[in-house]
Amino acid sequence: MPIRTPSRTTSGDSSPTDEHLQREIMSDTAADSELRIVADDEPLDTPVIAVDETLLHRNIDEMASLARSCGVSLRPHSKTHKSPRIARLQLEAGAAGLTCAKLGEAEVLVAEGGVRDILIAYPIVGELKIRRLLDLTNRAHITVAVDSLEAALALSRAFANSGRVLDVYIEVNTGQDRAGARAGQEAVDLAVDIARMPGLRLSGVMTHEGHAGFSGPDEISTVAQNAGQALVDTAERLRGLGVEVTQVSVGSTPSSWFTPRVKGITEMRPGTYVFHDNNAFRHGRIGPDRCAARVVATIVSRPAPDRAIIDAGSKALALDPSPSHPGHGYIVGHSDATIARLSEEHGVVLLPPDEQGFNVGDRVEIIPNHICPAVNLTDELVIVRDGEIVDRWPVAARGKVREGQFASRNAA
Ligand SMILES: Cc1ncc(COP(=O)(O)O)c(C=O)c1O
Repeated sequence: MPIRTPSRTTSGDSSPTDEHLQREIMSDTAADSELRIVADDEPLDTPVIAVDETLLHRNIDEMASLARSCGVSLRPHSKTHKSPRIARLQLEAGAAGLTCAKLGEAEVLVAEGGVRDILIAYPIVGELKIRRLLDLTNRAHITVAVDSLEAALALSRAFANSGRVLDVYIEVNTGQDRAGARAGQEAVDLAVDIARMPGLRLSGVMTHEGHAGFSGPDEISTVAQNAGQALVDTAERLRGLGVEVTQVSVGSTPSSWFTPRVKGITEMRPGTYVFHDNNAFRHGRIGPDRCAARVVATIVSRPAPDRAIIDAGSKALALDPSPSHPGHGYIVGHSDATIARLSEEHGVVLLPPDEQGFNVGDRVEIIPNHICPAVNLTDELVIVRDGEIVDRWPVAARGKVREGQFASRNAA
């Protein structure tokens, strides 16, 4: 049976509790089974990531209009798709530029996607990377996140020596406790020093309020807004000291409906929204009907009535846990089945009594817990329109963690 793009939506303005949400998302199995995106008779080798084109466009357009309604610019994080094609779609929908975590990802988006404005939201440390960065700035406007004097000094020396200026954002820790100078005095002190360095232009402050997404549905708006306010306050203190900070940049999909509304925020950098994933179900706005990317897997063994084996293991689904659903992903149409264990090539699915389907040769669609690392494991995305495969797009910027990969790919 061909499976068509669903029209049901779970988005709204209220923030339901975890319990309410689990009921809403997990109860309607009959409707949920209609949410598969690839027609059963479509030939497809598995495991593979299929992307529903309509849902993809809808997610892209929705975030673009959310940014417009908040009066901020949109700089999507490309970590989710690593695809020059999707980067272009985001730009066409109004994005001001893209965000990358890795220099290698930026190199690919510039060369293959024609992207001309990129924030590398990650510290650039080491001489080889700085050389590549210098080279990349010949082809695109690049901004780099800094959170230490050491990294800033090395960049300053290299850019001043070459007679050029690099835009930098100070990365500010607003509660995630990953990288970043602590919001307030620590970030202000660092920014004041960096603002004086030759070869650098301090053009913004940024935070990744990813910790908001780990808070419950009742707390997320407060946690997100507090993070945004801490960043705005830091920018205001800098301005009070005569340091002109133009961009105040936040970014995280679960907090997208909250942080950019804080007065003084100028830019948002969500990434996961382009596909959405099982992690997102927790906060109630997003359900399976909004997840554009699915790992399509085949049942390759049915060794026991309560156990089926799929050909998607950790090499297809990645290993991140999710607070939204037990196991390693959400099997569309089978909300009571659990992907209980993964080895590299095997997914062990535990089935409730009388669960239909799961015969050897059947296909299932899985919404991964975290779509970004799953995409990083695949060479291509299969693009689906109304149940039929219409195209294949390379994940050209996958696995770009160090020097040499881009050069050797081009030479090949
Ligand atoms: C610095 C930074 N900005 C933005 C994002 C996008 O967040 P999300 O994946 O929740 O959309 C990330 C994600 O890891 C990030 O690390």
